[in-house]
Amino acid sequence: MKISFIGCGKVGSTVAFAAGLRGLAREMVMVDFNAEKARGEAWDILQGRAFMPQVDIRSGNMEDTAGSDIAVISAGIPRKADEPRVLLLSRNAALIADIVRQTVGYSPNCILLMITNPLDIMTQLAYQASGLPVSRVIGMGTVLDTSRYRSCIAAEFGCDARDIDAYVIGEHGETMVPLRSNITVKGIPLERLAGVTTAKLDKIVDDVVTASGTVIALKGGTVFAPAAAACAILEAIVHDNRQVLPVCTYQERYGVSLSLPTLVGREGALGSFSPALSAAEEEMLQKSVRNIRAYAEQLSEYLQDSAAAK
Ligand code: 2OP
Repeated sequence: MKISFIGCGKVGSTVAFAAGLRGLAREMVMVDFNAEKARGEAWDILQGRAFMPQVDIRSGNMEDTAGSDIAVISAGIPRKADEPRVLLLSRNAALIADIVRQTVGYSPNCILLMITNPLDIMTQLAYQASGLPVSRVIGMGTVLDTSRYRSCIAAEFGCDARDIDAYVIGEHGETMVPLRSNITVKGIPLERLAGVTTAKLDKIVDDVVTASGTVIALKGGTVFAPAAAACAILEAIVHDNRQVLPVCTYQERYGVSLSLPTLVGREGALGSFSPALSAAEEEMLQKSVRNIRAYAEQLSEYLQDSAAAK
């Protein structure tokens, strides 16, 4: 298993570190616009090899990614606390299209795992630019928001976050849809747990939607939770776990890329499920779709402008 990490900022390099600790690859290549940074990150991880599963890790350029099974793309400019993720569209679009084409040129059978924001549009762009089947272009999507949701519910009600079935679907952004009508703890409806109130759940939902901005304001960027989420997706692919994860993929029926619970295994995204939604949740999902569609229109304009500027 060869995994390339294209983008060695805080998130990209932490995903590589976590993937190394879990022994997810035999070979890992770190690539960054700043070659010295990539070298430093690879060398830093390599120095822990005495305490982790054996991996051949090195830095390199795009040519060195050839033959990758998975390419994790986190390159791009991150957002600041007061900026919506979509502001990054103009900054990152042309760069990501170019990286995706190069990646697939060197690794025509790879699975792309997109982390760069705005996530849904970048996943859609990667799908369009790569020519890969839908199943092989996966965005981290609301796997991260779902982890935040489950973690906050667990912390509030004193249970194991891994026992909680609660999803955030739709956009990985301001119109994300935290589903609250079907939350269970190992099959037991959440409302049967002592102390569960609507007010507490409202607060949790609010905390999840604002989680990223809060952490960015406190420490300059979100790193560990995104890395844990990305690593969970890598693990499902590498071990062919066929785990249900709300990754972002292009959804024909909506005409955009967005997150829905999806079976993830060695061949990538193996099919998505439509969870039962209340009327309010359905309306929120439609709002998410409209939002992503509007960004997709902006994206075509940016790409046309950048092509004309060349
Ligand atoms: C997050 O939600 C920045 O999109 C990233 O943490």
